[in-house]
Amino acid sequence: MTELSFIHRYEPATDQGHPPLLLLHGTGGDENDLINLGRMVSPGSALLSPRGKILENGMPRFFRRLAEGVFDEEDVRFRANELADFVAEARDAYGLGAPIALGFSNGANIAAAMLMLRPEALAGAALLRAMVPLSDAPKTDLAGKRVLMVSGQMDPIIPVDNSARLAASLASSGADVQHETLPTGHGLSQTDLQLLLKWLA
Ligand code: MLT
Repeated sequence: MTELSFIHRYEPATDQGHPPLLLLHGTGGDENDLINLGRMVSPGSALLSPRGKILENGMPRFFRRLAEGVFDEEDVRFRANELADFVAEARDAYGLGAPIALGFSNGANIAAAMLMLRPEALAGAALLRAMVPLSDAPKTDLAGKRVLMVSGQMDPIIPVDNSARLAASLASSGADVQHETLPTGHGLSQTDLQLLLKWLA
């Protein structure tokens, strides 16, 4: 395993026709969590899967929060930049193009923050159960970036208007946003898989 600034897993592409995926786990996950999902939804893609550096009661995360759904925004900014730097490092080390982020929950939130703060780091993003990561995000140019957001109508952590605000904000920066809201909660469902497969194809 190459020594880079994040503990991570890397799987080389077996099919160069598919874009690399940056897999970003949820709270309490690690670099192993989304490997199978990545393989399933984009067979042949290179997979780059870092472990979040923050520990909340022993659970890895990508940035600090003050309470559920209440973020330490200074840390969000710092960590989004740190993760974007890691992506640049890993692209050099492994010879990769810009990845598409595939993030769940906390991982989707850091991916959204990266889009807002360091748009060059990502070719696009699939955000599963994401919410607004920054209350005063700078205006960035996301023209040409595709974003899939999949939210849960009954998600106890993310109010539907919050995810709708994130979708609107990304779209107003020029991203090509597809936002789907499923009759489900915070956990992933079979429909998430189907939407990902279709969007990535
Ligand atoms: C977050 O902290 O990013 C969100 O509350 C989602 C979570 O990880 O529980």
